[in-house]
Amino acid sequence: MEYRRLGDSSLLVSAVGLGTNNFAGRLADDAARAVLDEAFELGVTFLDTADVYGRGSADGPGASENQLGRLLAGRRQHFVLATKFGYPMGESVFERGASRGWIVSAAEASLRRLRTDYIDLYQVHAPDPATRIEETLRALDDLVRSGKVRFIGHSNFAAWQIADADWTARANHLSRPISAQMHYNLLARGIQAEVLPACLKFGLGVIPYFPLESGFLTGKYRSTGEGKGRLSESARATEIMTAANFDRIDRLEVFAVQRGHKLLDLAFGWLLSQPIVGSVIASASSPDQVRANVAAAEWRLTGAEMDEVPGL
Ligand SMILES: NC(=O)c1ccc[n+]([C@@H]2O[C@H](COP(=O)([O-])OP(=O)(O)OC[C@H]3O[C@@H](n4cnc5c(N)ncnc54)[C@H](OP(=O)(O)O)[C@@H]3O)[C@@H](O)[C@H]2O)c1
Repeated sequence: MEYRRLGDSSLLVSAVGLGTNNFAGRLADDAARAVLDEAFELGVTFLDTADVYGRGSADGPGASENQLGRLLAGRRQHFVLATKFGYPMGESVFERGASRGWIVSAAEASLRRLRTDYIDLYQVHAPDPATRIEETLRALDDLVRSGKVRFIGHSNFAAWQIADADWTARANHLSRPISAQMHYNLLARGIQAEVLPACLKFGLGVIPYFPLESGFLTGKYRSTGEGKGRLSESARATEIMTAANFDRIDRLEVFAVQRGHKLLDLAFGWLLSQPIVGSVIASASSPDQVRANVAAAEWRLTGAEMDEVPGL
């Protein structure tokens, strides 16, 4: 396993991470434990979760963190744990967002569910237009100073919000965000225009989410209707499983096969061949998928190959 510094920080993350938004919701304890054990065995140490994950499960939001906390008992110190706050955790308007009040409550609740006394990377899940970024950064900085949080990051920020957060932190001597978690994969390259240059400029590591476009980039879904999984069962299916996208993955697959690889190798390899990417946090349903993903992540494309990857 390759380990990378996240952005210009000292936080070391495994190049293949594990997303856990399917924990509790889709994976019961035994299945989630099997996935986590296999990941750990293969050197995956970076885990990404969020307070809101598990929202669709019987136990509601918080269920994924709760399950992860149970599964990490006795071995938490071997992992780099990232979680997020900001999406609604209840009906009340006070149980969401990035205000100081909510950050303090949300962090305590995540620490309790995860059964840990520190979070390695605490991320704002999405911008909160109702809160000044200075208030958010001050509250996060207090968590860093108290030792409850080691590093801070954000997700789904526009380029100007990335710049604003960095400058506000610098101007006020507050902890600076070290990472940006963004929708980024072979079929979703929108962040290349503005967000990636901003991340580069401000020393942020990028954590691509939906790296496999919910499973579509594994190649298991075919235009003939083959393939089943969370994507085919989700509302994203109509948006992703279009004729145009099947055409695109056909071209990407041909590119990979001509170079002795599979589409899955290209999905991981294309992301990890970009130094700004810290960790690829695909979720997995089984130990077999974890093994396939770790193996797929070995391909590093040359500069020429990166230029030749079919466009959209
Ligand atoms: N910051 C944000 O706003 C945000 C948003 C979304 C996600 N995230 C994070 O990103 C992580 C990853 O996103 P995601 O899980 O939604 O999408 P993804 O990683 O693109 O897709 C993962 C899904 O693909 C299938 N899969 C994985 N490996 C496979 C393999 N080798 N062969 C066949 N199928 C395979 C599995 O589902 P099936 O087996 O059911 O097909 C798995 O759950 C999440 O866990 C979460 O931590 C963050």
